[in-house]
Amino acid sequence: MLNGVLSAIVVLGVLPVFEVVFRVLTNISLLELMDFNHPLLKRMLLEAPGTYQHSLVVANLGETAAESIGANALLVRVGAYYHDVGKIPKAQYFVENQIPYRDIHKSLKPSMSKLIIINHVKEGVELAKKYHLNPKIIDFIVQHHGRSLVYYFYQRAKELEPKSGCEEDYRYPGPRPQSKEVAIVSIADTIEALSRTLDEPTPSRIREMVKDVVRKKIMEGELDESDLTLKDLEKITESFIRMLNAIFHTRINYPQDNGDKESTKPQENKSK
Ligand SMILES: [Fe+2]
Ligand SMILES: [Fe+2]
Repeated sequence: MLNGVLSAIVVLGVLPVFEVVFRVLTNISLLELMDFNHPLLKRMLLEAPGTYQHSLVVANLGETAAESIGANALLVRVGAYYHDVGKIPKAQYFVENQIPYRDIHKSLKPSMSKLIIINHVKEGVELAKKYHLNPKIIDFIVQHHGRSLVYYFYQRAKELEPKSGCEEDYRYPGPRPQSKEVAIVSIADTIEALSRTLDEPTPSRIREMVKDVVRKKIMEGELDESDLTLKDLEKITESFIRMLNAIFHTRINYPQDNGDKESTKPQENKSK
């Protein structure tokens, strides 16, 4: 009995040290990081609430996709929670945290906006180290944008100064996703952001958008180093489509109150 008690105390005590030394992350630590009371997640909720909501949706999309191919779904969920923590220090420069119709980037040069946007990766790593996050979680912060282009500001730079826009300057520094789990978060991240731009998210539009994102990621070589096979990508794509359809499900409109006494009675819940 004493052996059992002592073993548990020793394991829990030395586990964090072994995890850092051997670059592994156990489910015990992942469950700790999943706690919404973690100081970094709490900070994100208060200082960058839009990014917090975005991360939750990415986590839900990513976890289901990871389960569909037998990848580490718990790691995907936790990685998604922390992938954008670097947005906290300059939260107002990211569209999900902005007040509608007040674009802070209007007064900035595209090259300056691009610097702020790309810098969220570097700032994320600094914050993660400050809060002693495991290197496996830092991988999600560093790799989730791979070598992708900050397209919006690259286009604006080309419009304003056609000769000055060098495509390489508007790319994230990388590296590209090095594992299946990071690649799933990277795809879910792009899909979540794009899904918010859909005017009418009908099932066919959602399917088209998801397939387009995956196709572009393959064409640009973003998934080349991630070990994902085409079969995996097919399953992931179907999982994302199913989840997005659930997020954008339709509801029946409630009838308007026309002042009739009958209509003031509590209505039966007709939501589907
Ligand atoms: Fe990001
Ligand atoms: Fe993100």
